[in-house]
Formats: sequence, structure tokens, C-alpha cells
Amino acid sequence: MVEENLSPADISRNLKTDFIGKKVIAYPSLSSTNDIAKSEAKKGAREGTVILAEEQTAGRGRLKRAWLSPKGSIALSIILHPTPAQLPSLIMVASLAVAHCIEKVSGLETQIKWPNDVLIKGKKACGILIESDVRGSAVDYAVIGIGINVNLLPADFPEIAATATSLAQELGREISRREMIRCLLVEAEKLYLALPEGDSVFREWRDRLVTLGKEVELISGKTSYKGVAESVANDGSLLLRQPDGNLIKIVAGDVSLRQ
Ligand code: ATP
Ligand code: BTN
Repeated sequence: MVEENLSPADISRNLKTDFIGKKVIAYPSLSSTNDIAKSEAKKGAREGTVILAEEQTAGRGRLKRAWLSPKGSIALSIILHPTPAQLPSLIMVASLAVAHCIEKVSGLETQIKWPNDVLIKGKKACGILIESDVRGSAVDYAVIGIGINVNLLPADFPEIAATATSLAQELGREISRREMIRCLLVEAEKLYLALPEGDSVFREWRDRLVTLGKEVELISGKTSYKGVAESVANDGSLLLRQPDGNLIKIVAGDVSLRQ
């Protein structure tokens, strides 16, 4: 595996952003970048601060699932201070930033599975975990956690071998994590700053979802809903047409989707 330098200076140098990635805190090994980002946010870290780890020992997914991020993958978290209205759009910002950068840096095509998994040829290449602290009507902070399988080979990890892929797996060669991270920070800022300007981020995210029009099953705790994923609302929720004709709205959160 090609080892490249992921020092904060190399990430931030001449980065074309105003605030995301101006401060990068990098660790060789960490439990979870989201945990450290949350504690830095509580201590007052400025907006756009990035926490980066070469590997995570306790990476977390949604629904308390484990996320594998050995050396060769990207694990980072970005601290933001969105308005309450912008909070649901962060999943769109994050998944589009990842899709744009995978396409730009590797040339591979991507799909977005609702709400925010980025797939390549139907297999999971990226996971996103957004966590926030909301006090009353104000958002104290939000953390966008992004994990991308870059130079790892899923076959080396039996837990994910059948369902996951990586950029190296699809390309047959390794790619630069530094280039991918720099691209991500620029794209995330661009998309985040576009949120107040209208619904362009929502529309692109909706149009890229592979889930729409498909028969799906949504599992929330012990309840399961089956139907056709008909559309999405601009708060990110999924509109599911049930077999009896009813249309129900499922909020992206603690639900699991099978398609
Ligand atoms: P859904 O989001 O609809 O529930 P999902 O299976 O993708 O489907 P997530 O909670 O989004 O579930 O992702 C966590 C799952 O991802 C874990 O159950 C684990 O099997 C898998 N996983 C863990 N590490 C990786 C990785 N590096 N690459 C791909 N998949 C992984
Ligand atoms: C999922 O698909 O369930 C989400 C996985 C999110 C993984 C990223 S890696 C960086 C950040 N730190 C974590 O512990 N999780 C997120």
C-alpha cells in the first residue's frame, strides 16, 4: 500500500475554501473521528474544523453499527454550525460531495442509496454519520462524519466482503487519499454554502437517488414498512407508497432500508 502523508499542512495548503479544512487535526489512530469532533465542538472549535484519522479503532455507523476503517481508508469529521432549517440538508451535502469527488478523482460512477450511502456498482463505498446537538431552537453544532473505502480491499475483511467495495477494488490501482480529502472539503463547502440559495442541492440529491421507483422495505425497530419508494421531500424524508395505496413519510434517521 502506498503510504502518503496526511499531515494537516498537506491537506490545508492552498486549499480553495474559506473555512472548511482551514484547521485540520490529524491522528494516526483514533476511536472515532465523530467522537473527537463532538468534543472539539463542545470546546468551541471554529466552524470548518476537520478531524482526520489514519485508522479508527471504534468507527461508528448509524444504529450503533460498527464501521470498519483500517489504514488506507478515509475517516474524517467536519464541524459545522448550520441553522436548524439546514440540518436535514447535511445528508445531501455530504453524499453529493462524496459522489462528486469519487467521480472527479477516480472517474468511477456512483449511486446514492437513500438517505446517504454512496455506492459503486451497487456496493457500499462510503458511509456518512451526521450527529448534532440541538438546544431549544438553536443548533449548537453538527458533525458530518465521512468514511470512504479508498485503498483497502474488502476481501481482506470478511464482515463486509460481500456488501462493500473500495476505489482500489474497482480501479485495480490505489488512489491518492490526500487528493480525495482536499476535493471533499472544497465540495462540501460549496454545497453547504449553496443551501441558502434555493433547492439546487436537494434537486441534485433527489435526482441521483437509486432508491426512487424501487420496491423497498424500511425497518424501524420492530416495525417494517413495505412499498414503492415514490419520492423524497425537501427535508430528506422518503415518501413510501404502501400496497393499500397510502403514502407515508419516513424520516431519515433510525431506519434501515432494504431494496
Ligand atoms: P441501511 O443504511 O439501510 O441500514 P446499511 O447496511 O448500509 O443499510 P448502515 O447503518 O448505513 O447500514 O451502515 C453500517 C453497515 O455498514 C454495518 O452494518 C456494516 O456491515 C457495514 N460496514 C461497516 N464498515 C464498512 C465499510 N468500511 N464499508 C462498507 N460497509 C461497511
Ligand atoms: C453508516 O454507513 O452507517 C455510517 C458510517 C460512518 C462512518 C464515518 S467514518 C468517520 C466518522 N467517524 C465515525 O465513527 N463514523 C463516521
